[in-house]
Amino acid sequence: DAREIRRVPTCGEISIKKHYLEARCNRILVDMEGALTARDRVGIQDFVLLDSYTSESAFLDNLRKRFHENLIYTYIGTLLVSVNPYKELGIYTKKQMDIYMGVNFFELPPHIYALSDNAYRTMLMENNNHVILISGESGAGKTESSKKILQFYAVSCPRTSLLDNVRDRLLLSNPVLEAFGNAKTLKNDNSSRFGKYMDIQFDFQGEAVGGHILSYLLEKSRVVHQNHGERNFHIFYQLVEGAEDGLLRWLGLERNCQLYRYLVQGQCAKVSSISDKTDWRTVRKALSVIEISEADTEHLFGVIASVLHLGNIRFEADARGYATLNTLTSSVLVSPVQLLGVHVQVLREGLTHRKIEARAEEVLSPLTAEHAIYARDALAKAIYGRTFAWLVNKTNESLANKDSTRKTVIGLLDIYGFEVFHVNSFEQFCINYCNEKLQQLFIQLTLKSEQEEYEAEGIEWEAVPFFNNKIICDLVEEKHRGIISVLDEECLRPGEASDLTFLEKLEEKLGGHPHFVTHKLADQKTRKTLERGDFRLLHYAGEVTYCVVGFLDKNNDLLYKNIKDVSALNPSALLPCGAVFGYMLQSPGLGFLQVATQFKSSLAGLTEILMSKEPWYVRCLKPNNSKQSGCFDDVLVRHQVKYLGLMEHLRVRRAGFAYRRRFEVFLQRYKALCPDTWPHWKGKPADGVQRLVIHLGYRPDEYKMGRTKIFIRHPRTLFATEDAFEMCKHKLATRIQAKYRGYRVKGAFHRQRDACWRGMQARKERERRTWAVKVIKRFIKGFMNRNQPVCVDNAEYLTFVRQNYLIRLKENLPKNLLDKNTWLTPPPIMQEASRILHQLYVRLLVRKYVRGLSAQRKAQLQLKSLTSALFKGKKESYPQSVSKPFVGTRLEGEDGSPVRCKAPQYSVLVVKYDRNGFRPRQRQLVLTQAAAYLVEEAKIKQRVEYGSLKGWLSLTVELCVLSCSVCPQGDLVLQCDHLFELVTKLSMLANKASAIKVVQGSIRFDIHPGKEGFVDFRSGQETMVYRAKNGHLMVVSVPYCNSATINAFGGVHRPSRHIQYYNANMFTIPMSTH
Ligand SMILES: Nc1ncnc2c1ncn2[C@@H]1O[C@H](COP(=O)(O)OP(=O)(O)OP(=O)(O)O)[C@@H](O)[C@H]1O
Ligand SMILES: [Mg+2]
Repeated sequence: DAREIRRVPTCGEISIKKHYLEARCNRILVDMEGALTARDRVGIQDFVLLDSYTSESAFLDNLRKRFHENLIYTYIGTLLVSVNPYKELGIYTKKQMDIYMGVNFFELPPHIYALSDNAYRTMLMENNNHVILISGESGAGKTESSKKILQFYAVSCPRTSLLDNVRDRLLLSNPVLEAFGNAKTLKNDNSSRFGKYMDIQFDFQGEAVGGHILSYLLEKSRVVHQNHGERNFHIFYQLVEGAEDGLLRWLGLERNCQLYRYLVQGQCAKVSSISDKTDWRTVRKALSVIEISEADTEHLFGVIASVLHLGNIRFEADARGYATLNTLTSSVLVSPVQLLGVHVQVLREGLTHRKIEARAEEVLSPLTAEHAIYARDALAKAIYGRTFAWLVNKTNESLANKDSTRKTVIGLLDIYGFEVFHVNSFEQFCINYCNEKLQQLFIQLTLKSEQEEYEAEGIEWEAVPFFNNKIICDLVEEKHRGIISVLDEECLRPGEASDLTFLEKLEEKLGGHPHFVTHKLADQKTRKTLERGDFRLLHYAGEVTYCVVGFLDKNNDLLYKNIKDVSALNPSALLPCGAVFGYMLQSPGLGFLQVATQFKSSLAGLTEILMSKEPWYVRCLKPNNSKQSGCFDDVLVRHQVKYLGLMEHLRVRRAGFAYRRRFEVFLQRYKALCPDTWPHWKGKPADGVQRLVIHLGYRPDEYKMGRTKIFIRHPRTLFATEDAFEMCKHKLATRIQAKYRGYRVKGAFHRQRDACWRGMQARKERERRTWAVKVIKRFIKGFMNRNQPVCVDNAEYLTFVRQNYLIRLKENLPKNLLDKNTWLTPPPIMQEASRILHQLYVRLLVRKYVRGLSAQRKAQLQLKSLTSALFKGKKESYPQSVSKPFVGTRLEGEDGSPVRCKAPQYSVLVVKYDRNGFRPRQRQLVLTQAAAYLVEEAKIKQRVEYGSLKGWLSLTVELCVLSCSVCPQGDLVLQCDHLFELVTKLSMLANKASAIKVVQGSIRFDIHPGKEGFVDFRSGQETMVYRAKNGHLMVVSVPYCNSATINAFGGVHRPSRHIQYYNANMFTIPMSTH
C-alpha cells in the first residue's frame, strides 16, 4: 500500500549520486543473498515484486510456498501479511530483535519486528503518532502479533530501571486482560472476546514511559452461555484449577470445573493447548505488577467466584408459577452474598422479583422461573462486565504516565476478528460490524483515498476496482434506517416488542437491500438456507446468518437497571466489592444508551483515533480452520485474500506510488541534499522539488510531479534518498559541530588574545608605574637636595627645574617694558640666569622699543629721560608727571599774545610772586636758545641769562625758585603747572642740569642781592600762598593727592584743561646774584 510506505527512516552511508545509489542497492542485494538462507529465499518476500501480480493463484502460490517453509511473513510494500503458523517458530528471540533493530524493510526477510522498528523510528524521527492496525479473522493471529510488537518495544527501547517498571506493566497487562477477556472458541483457543486498543507512550528519547488501554464491548453472554466446544473466559478455569486451596476455600469453590454450570455448557472445560494452572500463576504475578492490591485482588476473585456461585442457583416454579429458589441450591446463595456483600434478602428479591415503578410507588413483581434464570444470568453478566471495566481502569491507572511533557504514541489495535459460527447472535453481529468498520477504514486510507488523490493531483492512473464495503456499514449503522437504529427503536418503543417484531421491522425497512436477506425476503433457493427467525448479511468477508433471538434483551442489557437499583438502595451492602460496584455505578452513560448504539459510537471514536495517526498494517491470515500447523487450506486462504482486498492493494501498490509528500514538506526535509535548495529555496516549492530530484538523479519513471505533491514510485528510491539524507545529516551535524567548535575555540582565542593584550597592557602599566615611582623618588630626592651643589641626587631635578623654569618663563614673558611684575620668580639655582635673562630681555624690549620710536618721540623721551635724571626720587610729584607728555611750547596760539622773543624754544604760563609782597602775577615764561624771558602781555619784563642760572625746587609743591648769579633784581619765585617740563627744557637749553636742586623745607632766595627771602612750606586743609608774619612766603599745600590738583588761588578743583592752566605749580627764579 502506497500510503503505508511514507516516512521510512533509514540509516547507513550512501551517496546521493546515482551510481553510488545503485552500488548501494547492489551491495544490499548481495548482502541479502549472503545473509538469507536458501529457506529465506523461497518465493518472493514482497508481493510487489511478483511477476503476475494480478493473479490470485500466483499470490496464493507464493504464500503457500513460504508458509510451508515456515516463512509466515510477506510484504506488500510495507503492509505485512502474516499467516498463522499454529506452532512456535523460534523467530521471536532476542537475537532476532537485535537483527531487526534499525534496519530497512527490504534489507532483511519480512518480519513483524521490521514493521515495529520502522514505525518506532519514524515516530522518533518525525515526532508524530502512529498506529499499527492488526486485522484478520478470528484465530488469524492478531493477538499474537500485538504481543510480539509489544515485546519488541519492551526489549528494543532504551531502558532505565525506572522504565523497567513501565515496561513490565505494559507487558503484563496482556495476560491479565487476556485471562478476563479471552476465551476458547471454536475458531480460536485464545479468542479475544473484547476489542483492545492500546497506546504505548514514548518520550522524546524513545523510551516507553506509559500506556493507555481502551476496551470495546466485551462478549458478556459468554459468562452464562457457551456453545458446544467453547469455554467461558479463561479466568474462571484458571481460578478453579490454579488457585491455592486456601483461596478456593475462602471463595467457597472446589477444584472441579464440572461443579459449575457456567463452566461446562460447552463441555470442554479442559483444553489441551491451554495450561490453566500456569496461566493462573502468570495472572497472579501480573496483577501484583500492575499494582492491584492484595485486598482488591481478593475482591476481584470474590466477584469471579460469586459469578460461578450465581450460575449454580436454580429456580423452581411455585404453585402460581412464580420462581422460588430451589431448596437444594438456596445454600449456594450464601457464598455470593458473602462475596458480594449484598444482603441475602436483597439478592434473593433481586433474583426472583422485578421492581416496577408505579406512579410514586415501587412495587415488587414476582418473576417466573424462566425470568428468574434470565435475571440471574443477567446479573452474572453485569457483574462480570463491570469487573472487566474496573480491571481495565485499574490497569490504565498503573500504566499512566504522570509526566505532562509531550509524548508520541504508537497505538496497537487488536480487535476480535471476523467470525461466523453455526449460530450467530448479537455478539457476532457487533464483532462483525466492528470488522466491517475496520475494513472500511482500511479501504478509505488505502484504496479509495489513494486513487482519489491520484486523480486530484492529475497523475495518470488506471483505476483499480475494489469492493467498497461502505454499503454494509451503512446497512448496519445508518441513522433511522440502519439495523442498529431499528433495533434501538424496537427496544425503546412502547408495546409488545420482541425479536420477531424487530425482524419484521428490518424486513420492512431494509427489504430490497442487496446485502440483507431474510427468510421472507429471500428467493426460493436461499430461503431454504434460512430459518424464519434469521437474517443474513452479506459482509465483506462473506455471508453471515444471524439468529434474532436475544437481540432485544442483549441490546437492552436489562438487568443492569435492576442491579443498579439494588446497589443504589443498599450501597453499603456492596462494600467488600465496593471498588467494583463503585466503578460500575460511576460509569457514565451506562443504562442510557442501548448496547449496540454505545458500541457504534465507541467505534466512531476509535475510527477518529486511528485516523489521527500514521497507519501501519498487519493483515493476518488463517491457514486452516482446524488450528493445525503446516496445513494450508487454499480455499480458506483465497477467501481471506479476497475479502481483505489484498489483491487490490497489491495492484494499487504496483501501479501506484509508494510515497507521496507535499512539495513544501518534501523540500523542507530533503533540501539539504542539493546545493541549489540549501539552505533556502526562493522560488516555488514545486520547482525546488524538481531541481532537487534532478540533482538526486531520479529517473523519470521513478517519480511524478502532481499538483501539490511529489509521488515516488518505489520505496527503494525513497530509502536511498533517506539514506542520503541520513548521511547528509551527519555531514551537516559535523559541519554544525565544526562551526560550533570553531566558534567556541574562536571565542576562547579571543578571550586569550584579550587576556594577552590586557597582560601586556598591565605589564606596561606596571613598568610605567615602576618608572614613575623611580622618577618620583628621584624627583623627591632631587627636591630635598635642591639647595645642595649639583650632584647625582639632584642633577636631574635641577635640570628639570631649570627646564621647567625656562619653559614657563618663555610662556610668561612680560609683554612690554612697563610690565615690571610679570617676570617669573626664579628658583634659587636660576636666580643669576634669570637676572641675566631679564636684563637681556629688557634690553631686547628696549631695543625693539627704541627701534620703533619716531625722531620726535625720541626727542621727547630724551627730555623725559633728563627729567627723570633730575627729579626721580627727589620730587614727590614726579611719578605722576611721567605719563604726561611734554609739548614743544605751551603758549603758541593759546593765549593769543605773540611772544616777542627771537626764536622762542618754549613758552609757558607761570605765576610769579613778587619778591616783596609775594603778590602773584601772571606772566609768560619764554625760553630761547640764549636766555629765559619773563613776558607780560608781549612785553619782556625780565631776561634771565642761562649762564648764571641756579635753581631750587620745592619738594612738595610745584614751585621753584630760579636764582641767577648775574641777575640784579634778585631771584624769581615762580609757580607753574608744567614745572617738570619747564625745568627740564630750561636745564637743557641752559645746559644746567646740575644747577637744579630739589629742596626740603624752606627755600632761601634773594629778594635782591643782599636781602634774602624765604619760601616756607606747610601742609594744610587748603592751598594758600601768602606772606607770613615772619615775612616769608608761606605756601600751604594740601598733602599731595593723586586725584586732584590744587588751585593756586585756593580751593581744590577737579582737573580740567582750563583749571590746569592756573594750577599752583610755583617756582621762584632767583634774580639775585648769589
Ligand atoms: N506468530 C505465531 N506463532 C505461533 N503461533 C501463532 C502465531 N500467531 C498465532 N498463533 C497461534 O494462533 C492462535 C490464535 O492466535 P490469536 O489469538 O492471535 O488470534 P486472533 O487473531 O487474535 O483471534 P481472535 O480474533 O479470535 O482474537 C494463538 O493462540 C497461537 O496458538
Ligand atoms: Mg485475539
